[in-house]
Amino acid sequence: MADLKTTFCGLEVKNPIGVTSCDFGGHERLIRRCGEQGIGWIIGKTVHKIDGPHRWPRPFFYSLKRFGSDLKDSWVCSQMFHNIPYEQWLEKELPKSLQTCKEMDTLFIGSCSGIGPVAETWIPFLKDMESAGVNCIELDTGGPHPTFGAVAAHKDVGAPLAMDPDTAYAVTKACVEAVNVPIIFKMTPQCVNMAGVALAVENAGAAAISANNAFYGCWIDHETGSFYGVPASMGGLIGRPWQLFSLAKIMEITATVKIPVLGGVFTYDDVARHLMANCGLVGMCSAVYSRGVKVLSKTITEFDKWMDKKGYQEIGDIQGKVVKDFSYLRDWPREEVMSELTPIIPKFSSEKCNHCGICEDLCPYGAIFLNRDAKEIPTAKREYCFGCGWCVGHCPKKAIEMIHADTNEMVWDGTGVIKQWV
Ligand SMILES: Cc1cc2nc3c(=O)[nH]c(=O)nc-3n(C[C@H](O)[C@H](O)[C@H](O)COP(=O)(O)O)c2cc1C
Repeated sequence: MADLKTTFCGLEVKNPIGVTSCDFGGHERLIRRCGEQGIGWIIGKTVHKIDGPHRWPRPFFYSLKRFGSDLKDSWVCSQMFHNIPYEQWLEKELPKSLQTCKEMDTLFIGSCSGIGPVAETWIPFLKDMESAGVNCIELDTGGPHPTFGAVAAHKDVGAPLAMDPDTAYAVTKACVEAVNVPIIFKMTPQCVNMAGVALAVENAGAAAISANNAFYGCWIDHETGSFYGVPASMGGLIGRPWQLFSLAKIMEITATVKIPVLGGVFTYDDVARHLMANCGLVGMCSAVYSRGVKVLSKTITEFDKWMDKKGYQEIGDIQGKVVKDFSYLRDWPREEVMSELTPIIPKFSSEKCNHCGICEDLCPYGAIFLNRDAKEIPTAKREYCFGCGWCVGHCPKKAIEMIHADTNEMVWDGTGVIKQWV
């Protein structure tokens, strides 16, 4: 068995898989449910003293599963910050939660939100939590609910704070200076200049960055001709399809700063992917809702097995593996002018091809031809082919690879990175 132990912000964690801020970290009973699945850490539900975000319109979870299997993990939600009063959480729920986490050897990370850029509205939470024994705190700076439908004074709460490097710097610096526990800054995927915000919060002394919070969105029920759930644009447009975007944002951060990043995942292979992108911890949130708490132990077990299968012995063997290769497309070697006749063409394997014709159907350029009855392999008409590689990714038999037309050299077999051929 691989050694899954790791450290994050100087704290030991028994494995990198945990639960990011949501209901599961808000109540001791739910923390225990997750802890029993063997997770390394859990983040508390965001506590606050803002009038508005503690009142959620019930029901507040609207799964999109009924609109198609491709949306099975997607949903919109109108739930906001912790629903119970702060004092009640601090006096009753937090001590019990800390005790349970201690018993289960699960790191508890606190989460709070002040009011936008006003540093003094954050610091009391940090001090309270530090006194209670919380040894790492996340600033919920990336919340997707733009104004919480509350008053104008709260318009900068959540995502707006994580979009401006100067404000992010000021709030983070004030928080870092107020307490001795490591401070995590939470990003919003809405941020365009994520590398800039990451640099600002690193300079301000943040110990880590959490990436990412949810998007916001809305949905229309076409059958009823009305909105689905509530008629508003609200936080929590979430689901596995957003991973590509989130991972790209994480790469922007890990390629820019040295402090560790905490990223969000759904499956064991997502765990591997995010660790390779240099995440220090990997969190599950919407996955736990849409697949149930057992997804946590399943992911830990499957990740452990995968590590063994690959011969990796510890987290350090894969952590940050791809970061040095991250680049922007502008830096990738390309033809000076794209020649009309593509130098890169598909090669079809007569042993593997099952004559299904998917390549012919999906070729965007109408360049692949197949006589299905003759059971011959497809042919690509070079005059039409763009050398795009779409057929490689769609072939169910892995019977296609891209080669250089002049040298026959393999350029891409559908795994890993394409060969530089220019
Ligand atoms: C129901 C629900 C409640 C959430 N509540 C909070 C919260 O109170 N504070 C916070 O910082 N993030 C909150 N989040 C955001 C998650 O922590 C996480 O950043 C986001 O869902 C993206 O990760 P995922 O793809 O693993 O779901 C919530 C997400 C969900 C689905």
